[in-house]
Amino acid sequence: MSKLFNVAIVGVAGAVGQEMLRVLEERNFPVGELRLLDSERSVGKTENFKGEEIDIQVLTKNSFNEIDIALFSAGVERSLEFCPHAITAGAVCVDNSDAWRMDPEVPLVVPEVNSDDVSQYLNKKVIASPGCSTTQMVLPLKALQNVSRIKRIVVSTYQAVSGSGQSAVDELRVQSGELLNGRPAHNKIYPHQIAFNCLPHIDSFVDNGYTEEEMRMVHETRKILGDPEIRISSTAVRVPVFYGHSESLNVETEEKISAAQAKELFDVFPGLQVIDGPDSSLYPMPVDAAGQDEILVGRIREDLSLDKGLNFWVAADNLRKGAATNAIQISELLVAKYL
Ligand SMILES: NC(=O)c1ccc[n+]([C@@H]2O[C@H](COP(=O)([O-])OP(=O)(O)OC[C@H]3O[C@@H](n4cnc5c(N)ncnc54)[C@H](OP(=O)(O)O)[C@@H]3O)[C@@H](O)[C@H]2O)c1
Repeated sequence: MSKLFNVAIVGVAGAVGQEMLRVLEERNFPVGELRLLDSERSVGKTENFKGEEIDIQVLTKNSFNEIDIALFSAGVERSLEFCPHAITAGAVCVDNSDAWRMDPEVPLVVPEVNSDDVSQYLNKKVIASPGCSTTQMVLPLKALQNVSRIKRIVVSTYQAVSGSGQSAVDELRVQSGELLNGRPAHNKIYPHQIAFNCLPHIDSFVDNGYTEEEMRMVHETRKILGDPEIRISSTAVRVPVFYGHSESLNVETEEKISAAQAKELFDVFPGLQVIDGPDSSLYPMPVDAAGQDEILVGRIREDLSLDKGLNFWVAADNLRKGAATNAIQISELLVAKYL
């Protein structure tokens, strides 16, 4: 029998945690014991995994005894506080939060792009998974980078509310109902109404006028693609979509890449699915991306204002490839090659 690994999911009741459960089961990850950890609010609840009901336990510093892999998705503060306890207990942490992504000793991994970086897990026993908006753009960018250096990227995002967690999904649902019934919309998670609206504001603003989300896309992309010189400008927008982020990308390369060549490169790149049939109104949409792991890419065309520029559009499930699936693919590399 092949080796089994004891796995903990930290934040299992949250939007990403719930998807982790599904993805572990779907991909038949070699789980021995599965330990489900969350806040006190989830005590008394159970989750079904492969037909077995498992109690959710409160996360404490003693939660990680005998755990091999700890999958963290309970926010930055929990990762900073509890990853060290998991590591002391002997686990490797795969972290979905922003806690370790830019730590030079911590690998930041999207398996289709930089799987070899997993080997650096020994530095701190932590591997970081990028933000969802970065993950979905680095696959097509890597496909282009394989044939030409990328000079500059301009990206605008159209991000679903599930990117802000389960409570934001509830806020969009409730607000939509309130407004459709002629009642005022109340907002708690976002600074303004999100139903039937767009907010060019994701995370806090920083001194240069960008937001933390926009700056994360700059720094994380450079780290994953291994090129600190790429010039990147990002605008991150929250839209009233439940699941699935979309992005418009404008990319300038050193060598000319035609639209036809880009399409061929995307077609054969693992994890990408080209949907590009303008004559039949075929292009990536979040409703199609939701629930699947592939990153959909389309509207591939040459930039009319640049000699060596391309435009394209990507859509992906932020909870799956943007978080849970990516973390579990990292864990698959860990168990296949390193543990
Ligand atoms: N959503 C995405 O698309 C996405 C993509 C990539 C990365 N991420 C990252 O993944 C992490 C989780 O995001 P999410 O969207 O799943 O958020 P979420 O839906 O709010 O889930 C977070 C979970 O963590 C739990 N939690 C909070 N404090 C805790 C504590 N002290 N001990 C144990 N559990 C605690 C929460 O429980 P309570 O509700 O009881 O507080 C909740 O169940 C974040 O760091 C986020 O940045 C999210």
